[in-house]
Amino acid sequence: MTCPNSFLKFFYFYHMIREQVDLKPYNTFGISVPAKFFATFQDTNQLRELIEQKKQEELLILGGGSNLLLTKAFKGLVLKNDLQGIELLSENDSEAILQVGGGVVWHDFVLHCIERELGGVENLSLIPGSVGASPMQNIGAYGVEIKDVFDHLEAFHIASGEIHRFDHQDCAFGYRESVFKRKLKSQYVITKVAYRLSKKPVLNTSYGMIEQELERMQINQPGIRDVSNAVIAIRSSKLPDPKKMGNAGSFFKNPVIPKEHFEQLVGEFPEIPSYPIDAQSVKVPAGWLIERSGWKGRNFGNFGVHEKQALVLVNYGGALGQEIYDLSEQIMSDIEQKFGIRLEREVNIL
Ligand code: FAD
Ligand code: EPU
Repeated sequence: MTCPNSFLKFFYFYHMIREQVDLKPYNTFGISVPAKFFATFQDTNQLRELIEQKKQEELLILGGGSNLLLTKAFKGLVLKNDLQGIELLSENDSEAILQVGGGVVWHDFVLHCIERELGGVENLSLIPGSVGASPMQNIGAYGVEIKDVFDHLEAFHIASGEIHRFDHQDCAFGYRESVFKRKLKSQYVITKVAYRLSKKPVLNTSYGMIEQELERMQINQPGIRDVSNAVIAIRSSKLPDPKKMGNAGSFFKNPVIPKEHFEQLVGEFPEIPSYPIDAQSVKVPAGWLIERSGWKGRNFGNFGVHEKQALVLVNYGGALGQEIYDLSEQIMSDIEQKFGIRLEREVNIL
């Protein structure tokens, strides 16, 4: 006879793991492909049991699906992170450390900090996606990256089922990089992230158009809420809203090239923009390279290159992931031919 416990377990998983689920609502590109299995987890015990239940299956850990391009059916188990909660770990006169569940929506966390006058993440307002994904590529915008506020994280080790702690130096953060995208790829589920926020925020308004936007808003003595509003206004003016037009933000990273190569390019394209990195290297905006090559705003029916931001590839509705991937290949080979620069994709391809 089945004991009530195993009956409950069967009942629980029967309802928890769905089969042949269309992933369209779960990725901001709005690509329709099926997942063989799909489940959501709200705590680490559920996560452990779901992985145990389908241990032969390939896994995809999903946050907001805002940095993914799905090119084919996913023949494994998709686990959507719904770990909630924001907890004060410690505080003193100058700072507070908040620990946040990996499934919390990133921008909700930013608003939580702004409401409590905790500074550090206001420049990262409106970045789509989840807290758990924020360390994956060390999200960044307007002169700030999460490495600047990161304290530590907890992650579930898939092979052993153990929870491991990662401090700053363990994460190997770089520009759109971390150890979780490289050496430890697909080995962990990030369950909680702790950030160090400032009670005496020093505003960072020197980047991009923030100062001009504050001026336009007629704000002379800005606080963190004003900076957040300025960033939201700038972002909304050039980046497409995924609810209206499928996209995953910048499709490519901005390339970092040797100084000698840059100097050759300046000879040919004196107007080329750049950001100094160090004595040997320079960062060049990929958006400029792509626009200069005539791709900006190009429309291929269901998909194309965004008309206001050449770094963003878009799904106008009904595009296949493979079509967008093929477009990215064409852009990459064109840029390589024209500038001798091999672009690298920022978006994760599946
Ligand atoms: P997903 O797309 O769900 O996942 C991304 C990758 O991380 C996948 O490989 C997934 O398996 C893995 N992953 C997700 N969660 C976890 C977890 N808890 N544990 C382990 N692995 C996990 N990014 C920036 O850095 N700066 C920007 O300014 C920016 N602007 C954007 C604007 C728009 C309009 C869009 C659509 C995207 C933008 N992005 C930007 C990219 C994206 O928002 C970030 O990369 C974000 O962190 C992705 O979060 P997500 O939860 O949607 O991750
Ligand atoms: N540019 C063009 N044409 C374009 C787009 C950009 O010439 O169509 C040139 C201009 O010279 C412009 C410069 O590129 O001044 C920089 O453009 P922008 O400020 O829009 O930023 P970006 O380099 O294109 C990066 C990040 C964004 C982040 C913004 C703001 C990367 C790959 N992208 O974009 O992050 O929001 O800066 O800090 O680093 C993302 O990662 O998904 C993302 C959106």
